[in-house]
Amino acid sequence: MVANTRTNLELNMDRMIIRGGNRLEGAVTISGAKNAALPLVAASLLAQGETTWHNVPGLGDVRTMAKLLEVLGAKIEEGDRVLKVDTSNIDTFEAPYRLVKTMRASVLVLGPLVARYGRARVSLPGGCAIGARPIDMHLRGLEAMGAEISLDKGYVTARANRLRGAKIVFRQPTVGGTENLMMAAALAEGRTTIENAAREPEIEELARVLNKMGANVEGAGTAYISIEGVQELHPIEHAIIPDRIETGTFMVAAAMTGGDVVLENCLLEHNSAVVTKLEGTGAKVEAVEQGLRVQGTGQLHTVDITTQPYPGFPTDMQAQFMALATQAVGDSVITESIFENRFMHVSELARMGAQIVVNGRVAVIRGRPGTLQGTTVMATDLRASACLVLAALVAENTTEILRVYHLDRGYDQLEVKMRRLGADIERVSGPPFPTTNAE
Ligand code: UD1
Repeated sequence: MVANTRTNLELNMDRMIIRGGNRLEGAVTISGAKNAALPLVAASLLAQGETTWHNVPGLGDVRTMAKLLEVLGAKIEEGDRVLKVDTSNIDTFEAPYRLVKTMRASVLVLGPLVARYGRARVSLPGGCAIGARPIDMHLRGLEAMGAEISLDKGYVTARANRLRGAKIVFRQPTVGGTENLMMAAALAEGRTTIENAAREPEIEELARVLNKMGANVEGAGTAYISIEGVQELHPIEHAIIPDRIETGTFMVAAAMTGGDVVLENCLLEHNSAVVTKLEGTGAKVEAVEQGLRVQGTGQLHTVDITTQPYPGFPTDMQAQFMALATQAVGDSVITESIFENRFMHVSELARMGAQIVVNGRVAVIRGRPGTLQGTTVMATDLRASACLVLAALVAENTTEILRVYHLDRGYDQLEVKMRRLGADIERVSGPPFPTTNAE
C-alpha cells in the first residue's frame, strides 16, 4: 500500500509549521503528474483486465480516483509509486456525490463508462472553491456522439448503445472536456474530431496512452484532435510524465529563497512559460543532466502574468508567482483569465503583510522584499496552499498553515522534499475532518 493510508474521504486537520529564512539548496525529485495520473487511471476503465501505472504520485486526488474505480467494481492494488487497476469485474456505473464533491476530476469516468458500458451516472461536481466550473462542454460533446443525457437530483446520466464519431467544437479549450471526449471517442464508431481542443502536455500523455492501448488518436498537443474509434482497447503498463506544476512550485521556491536547487525527473519543454517568467525575475534556470537547475540571484524583479491555456502561463502556477511577486521590488500585475474566483490566497497573504489590490480578475502586488510576517493562515485550495508555503519560507518568524489537506491533494510529500532542501518545515497532526472543497 502507499505510505499515506488516509483516503481523501478522511481528510485531516494537519497543520504545517514553517520558520522562514532558510535558503533552499540541493536536489529534489519531481513526482508523477497529478493531472496526467487522474485521466490515465480513469482510462483504465476502457480496457478489460489489469493495467499497471508507474511513477504514480502519492496524492489525495489519486487515491480518490482509485477509490472511485473501486466503487465501480475495479480491483485496486497500490504499491510504491505503482497502481494496478483490474477492471475485470466492473459492475457499478455510478460516481457518487461523496467522492465527486472532494474531487471534480471524478467526472473523468463519465466518457470511459458510457463508451465501454453504455451507461454512466455521475454526480455533478457543483460549485467549488475556485469558481463555478461547469461541465456543459463535456455533456454537449457526448450528446453529439449520440449519448442520451439527463439531469436528475444533482446527477447526470448518460446512455448510449454505442457512441458514434462526431465533430466537436469547443467554445474555449477545456482540459477535462478534451480528455473525457478523447476517451469516449476511442471506443466510438467512426471518426471524432475535436476543434479548439486543450493542448496541455497531459492531453498528449493521454493520447500516447490511448494509442498504446490500441486506439487511434492524432493531433493531441495541437488544437485539432482526430480520433478514429476502435472496437476494443487492451490493458497496458505505463510510467506517468513528471508533474510540471510541482516542478514550477520548486522552481519558485528556489528563486524566492535565493537558493540553488536541481530538480530531477522534470521536463523543461513542459515548463517554458514558467521558465521565461522566472528568468524575467532574475533567477537563473539551466538544463542539467538530471533535469533543471534553478538559482536565485538575490534581488527579484517584478513580474506581470496573464494565465492562459497551455502553452500560455498556467493558472495552476498563478498563486505561487503571487508569493514571489511579494518579494520583488515594485508592482507586479497578475491577471487570472481561466477561473473567475482564484484569488483566495490574496487575503491570507495580506494577513502576512503583503500589499495586494484586487480588481476583478486583476491583482496588483506591491512587492517589498523581506517584509512578510509569519502568522496563522488558512489554506483555501490546492495551489493557494502552495502559495502560503512559499510565502512562509521567506517570512519573518513562524507561519502556521491550517487545512493542509488541500496541499496533500496535489503535492507528494511537499514538506519532506522541502526539508531535504533545508527548509524549516514540519507537519503537526490533527484529527480527521470532512471537507467539500475541490480543485
Ligand atoms: C484542469 C486541471 C486544473 C487546471 C485547469 C486549467 C485536471 C485534473 N485539472 O481542470 O488543475 O487548473 O485544467 O488548466 O487536469 N469550462 C466550462 N465548461 C466545461 C468545462 C470547462 O465552462 O464544460 C470552463 C471552466 O469553468 C474554466 C475553463 O473552462 O473556466 C477551463 O476549465 P478546464 O480546462 O475544463 O479545467 P479542468 O479540466 O476542470
